[in-house]
Amino acid sequence: MATLAEKPIDFTRLAHPSPASDEKRGAILADPGFGSAFSDHMVTIEWSDDRGWHDATIGPYGPIMIDPATAVLHYAQEIFEGLKAYRQADGGIALFRPEANASRFNSSARRLAMPEMPQDIFVESVRQLVLADREWFPTVEGGSLYLRPFMFASEVFLGVRPSKHYKYMVIASPAGNYFKSGAPAVSIWVSKYSRAAPGGTGAAKCGGNYAASLVPQAEAIKRGHDQVVFLDAEQHKWIEELGGMNLYFVFEDGTLLTPQLTGTILPGITRDSLLTLAREEGLTVREERYSIDQWTADAKSGKLVECFACGTAAVVTPIGHVAGHDVDFTIGSGGPGQLTGRLKDKLVAIQRGTAADSHGWVTKID
Ligand code: PLP
Ligand code: COI
Repeated sequence: MATLAEKPIDFTRLAHPSPASDEKRGAILADPGFGSAFSDHMVTIEWSDDRGWHDATIGPYGPIMIDPATAVLHYAQEIFEGLKAYRQADGGIALFRPEANASRFNSSARRLAMPEMPQDIFVESVRQLVLADREWFPTVEGGSLYLRPFMFASEVFLGVRPSKHYKYMVIASPAGNYFKSGAPAVSIWVSKYSRAAPGGTGAAKCGGNYAASLVPQAEAIKRGHDQVVFLDAEQHKWIEELGGMNLYFVFEDGTLLTPQLTGTILPGITRDSLLTLAREEGLTVREERYSIDQWTADAKSGKLVECFACGTAAVVTPIGHVAGHDVDFTIGSGGPGQLTGRLKDKLVAIQRGTAADSHGWVTKID
């Protein structure tokens, strides 16, 4: 179990004048969906070039005032993270690999010419919010408190250069299933659009990547699929990832493959955790390029038996069907596969404290 350093920054606490009523909160927690309801509090920390990180506050959740000339509104200098707090089997609360989110936040910050945040402050900000909103854990099966740390350029200036002021915030949202359909396996659409080009920002978690994915994602939905899958931008051949999840392929000989991190793929923390868990089981996992043609051929020949998407929001989600302008195929039975289920159960058991945490991934905060 990871331990937390001493409180690295003092948070000013502002009491909420009118937190959600028990009735309102209870209704949300019984059916939280994903990303549409928010807890009572939020964290704000300011950064300026002369003062560094300062003015850490935990106060009531609510709108913020933004000058129309604020840099982020024009040039999208913004990054974010996504992680979850889990109620433990013993009634406590834990975060899953928050240091990994802090580290990815800082690599995103470097790519977007933003200041890095000390890991201790990042983890402490998340911890403070979860403790303030500990009443906000969903009561539904598989529920958790989704945490969204983010940072944006807050200088009021229209010149194109890195901002001299940034605002970091954390909000919390009770979360259930990411996919509305609740289907046992999802269907994905192979896009002709590109998500990320070599030398671009694909490996950073910046808002602009998601803005660019909205048209392809809307196309996937319009055609009756749940998510979009992107191929590489240069050859339009190699499978990269979904709009908000990484990918794994399972073959009949029991081996796994996940696309290698090329700089255009987001290095998922779920992807990395599953890599460790699978290898620990003695499974062979290859991090390699995998082409759309091979994917089609392997699914049709039966060599590919399972496929799944993974990410904080989606956890582990089986993929049953794939379609695109030139392809249309089903994977295995079209439903959830055995190995997919086993890896998911293993991961979730660690996250929820029903299995031992032998990797130091779980940070108990309560
Ligand atoms: N790929 C993209 C584009 C994502 O937005 C996410 C979600 O954060 C992931 C992959 C999975 O990353 P993680 O497992 O760290 O949530
Ligand atoms: C996550 O899994 O945390 C994501 O960020 C995916 C999506 C909601 C953007």
